[in-house]
Amino acid sequence: MSYLCELFSLAGKTAVVIGGTGTLGGAIAVGLGRAGANIVVAGRNQERGEAKVAEIAGHGGHAQFLHVDVDSRQSIDELCQAAIKRNGQVDILINSAGVNHASPYLEVDDADWQRVLDSNLTAVHRTCQIFGAQMKDAGGGAIVNIASVTSDKPLSRVFAYSASKAAVANLTQNVAREFAPDKIRVNALCPGFFPAELNRAILDKERVAHIMAQTPLARFGEPEELVGATLLLVAPAGSFVTGTCVYVDGGFTGMRF
Ligand SMILES: NC(=O)c1ccc[n+]([C@@H]2O[C@H](COP(=O)([O-])OP(=O)(O)OC[C@H]3O[C@@H](n4cnc5c(N)ncnc54)[C@H](O)[C@@H]3O)[C@@H](O)[C@H]2O)c1
Repeated sequence: MSYLCELFSLAGKTAVVIGGTGTLGGAIAVGLGRAGANIVVAGRNQERGEAKVAEIAGHGGHAQFLHVDVDSRQSIDELCQAAIKRNGQVDILINSAGVNHASPYLEVDDADWQRVLDSNLTAVHRTCQIFGAQMKDAGGGAIVNIASVTSDKPLSRVFAYSASKAAVANLTQNVAREFAPDKIRVNALCPGFFPAELNRAILDKERVAHIMAQTPLARFGEPEELVGATLLLVAPAGSFVTGTCVYVDGGFTGMRF
């Protein structure tokens, strides 16, 4: 095996990408598939999931779609059971499902608040528990929770979203400590700004100008630009990396203009 393969090959591993039907999760699923992992694209939209499966197959990879609604513990449990039944075990979990809601603070109602906290935070907690238990039985694994630049500092107008992503980073570090003896590494990937369905409505002209002024690379990210950092977090190359937050944001987090 070449040196690069020793460091980064995922051959023989199974990765479940929750939210693999979405923009960022989809790009990560394709990237991990191209690195040799057998991919379970998990989400609510079968059509999008099957399209991602076909894309991975087009690159010579192996993938399948499985349904999950992360707002339901039972649905996550069923996903985990189905993934194990089909693939023997799950070595890698990527948590990339997420929702957003923007409004002035006084207009945030309880239902919006709860919906964002449920899908962005409680779902990550549940998946870490459910998949972590099977990784423990299997002798190890790697989990990557997709957090955000707003895990570091709040973003205006997205109150529940910011709070949820700060909590995801905190939970990630706490679970990493808990799972370390079981050889399960847990890290957060914190993307900057990547145009997607989730944020299209809030990226108005004024906001984009602010973002660009604070981003040294002065552009949005391309979803494929998350693959390298994700690979580091799940591949043998990252075997001593756990409990950390990796920012892929064009320099946004480091700047204070
Ligand atoms: N796009 C960005 O700039 C950006 C930046 C930082 C963090 N993120 C995070 O990255 C992750 C992926 O977001 P994206 O940008 O690809 O958005 P996206 O809207 O393209 O994808 C989100 C996916 O999550 C799925 N999802 C939502 N609720 C679900 C549920 N209850 N059950 C199952 N699936 C559900 C959606 O169907 C969709 O496929 C999210 O956690 C988001 O918060 C995105």
